[in-house]
Amino acid sequence: MLSENTIKIVKSTAPILADRGVEITTYFYEKLFEAHPALLNIFNHANQKKGRQQTALANTVYAAATYIDQLEVLIPAVKQIAHKHRSLGVKEEHYPIVGEFLLKAIKDVLGDAATPEIINAWAEAYGVIAQVFIDVEKEMYNEAKAQAWEGFKAFKVVNKIKESSVITSFYLQPADGSSTPTFKPGQYVTVRLKVEGEEYLLNRQYSLSDAPGENHLRISVKKEGEEPSSLGKVSNYLHEHVNEGDEVEITAPAGDFVLNETDNTPVYLISGGVGITPMMSMLKRIADQQPDRHVTFIHAAKNGALQAFQEEVTETVNSLSNAKKVIVFQNPTPSDRENRKFDEEGYVDFNKLQTIVEEKEASFYVCGPVAFMKNTIENLEKLGVKEENIHFEFFGPSINLKAD
Ligand code: HEM
Repeated sequence: MLSENTIKIVKSTAPILADRGVEITTYFYEKLFEAHPALLNIFNHANQKKGRQQTALANTVYAAATYIDQLEVLIPAVKQIAHKHRSLGVKEEHYPIVGEFLLKAIKDVLGDAATPEIINAWAEAYGVIAQVFIDVEKEMYNEAKAQAWEGFKAFKVVNKIKESSVITSFYLQPADGSSTPTFKPGQYVTVRLKVEGEEYLLNRQYSLSDAPGENHLRISVKKEGEEPSSLGKVSNYLHEHVNEGDEVEITAPAGDFVLNETDNTPVYLISGGVGITPMMSMLKRIADQQPDRHVTFIHAAKNGALQAFQEEVTETVNSLSNAKKVIVFQNPTPSDRENRKFDEEGYVDFNKLQTIVEEKEASFYVCGPVAFMKNTIENLEKLGVKEENIHFEFFGPSINLKAD
């Protein structure tokens, strides 16, 4: 239990720390990795370079501090992060290390302004926040161990299929011949690779793009960037060097951006670009388990060359009695027009959504690039869709707590 005084200090200094947040966490990461370089086997170096992780961690610690006396408010956000932590192998013993370097960073960046009283209050608060994460993650580790496996496990690539000019699917089966685990449609796995010439292991999360219950797990990876820069190191390596018969390591499926299957409410699956991957899993699950459910599959792509799963979407939608698809191309090519590859031209904007969305009490799932998601969520809310009916997932560290 934190004392009244500690709570008062933490709450009153949180805005100051938030102001200097990115500075503090940037310094924190520098010092943390200097002292514990092995942690670079867990962290995504591309996100580090873009400063995304710094923003995500800073936002969360300061937001958590603001709610230090009612931490239950944070549980949904903690769970989303905890899924990521569990899927990366973040463990209880890592928390004191992070705490030590975070406090050191606060002290060094704020200088004299960080009095011993302030530092002690934050040390206590960090301990309380960390315990919330540790408890939630412990439960998730137990669940993963019971239902799948702990840590990383080798999977063999049994099929590799090009889905578009930039997206390729990898069909994976356990290399030890054990059974393929089940998962919830919308979940992801962490893929860990040892890339030649790289000092540390590289980890990335990829959504599972096929329905649960198949004898494989399928990930569908977008090749990022032309050159294998830090941005596209893993995706380029997978595209260029990982082939049928090769092995990759993955963790058990994770994530809480999942299809609600407890009732038959109509669903809208709205995706942009590679955000189509979790939507494929949800669509195919509906086809398997709730074939009468009303489902509208809305997908935005630049053109036909870039759109993945064209046939699979059409076939699945046509096999259902209450399904509809709306494929929207930004810049269709003459061949797209000739072959009627799309249903609408332009963007998934307010006017389009207004004509497509007939059922505002439905469940809406949104996945794609940040701008696409922001606009879509805003437009859905403008249409009168309630916030609690809109579920979304952004690929990469969440930018703010709402996105958590
Ligand atoms: C990701 C917060 C402790 C390692 C994240 C994210 C947040 C966060 C907000 C982004 C989640 C997302 O992508 O949706 C926190 C907080 C912590 C904490 C508030 C302490 C209370 C730790 C510890 C470790 C760790 C102890 C391990 C040393 C990571 C890694 C990622 C991550 C590796 C993914 C990074 C990436 O892919 O770039 N954390 N974290 N975190 N966290 Fe933590």
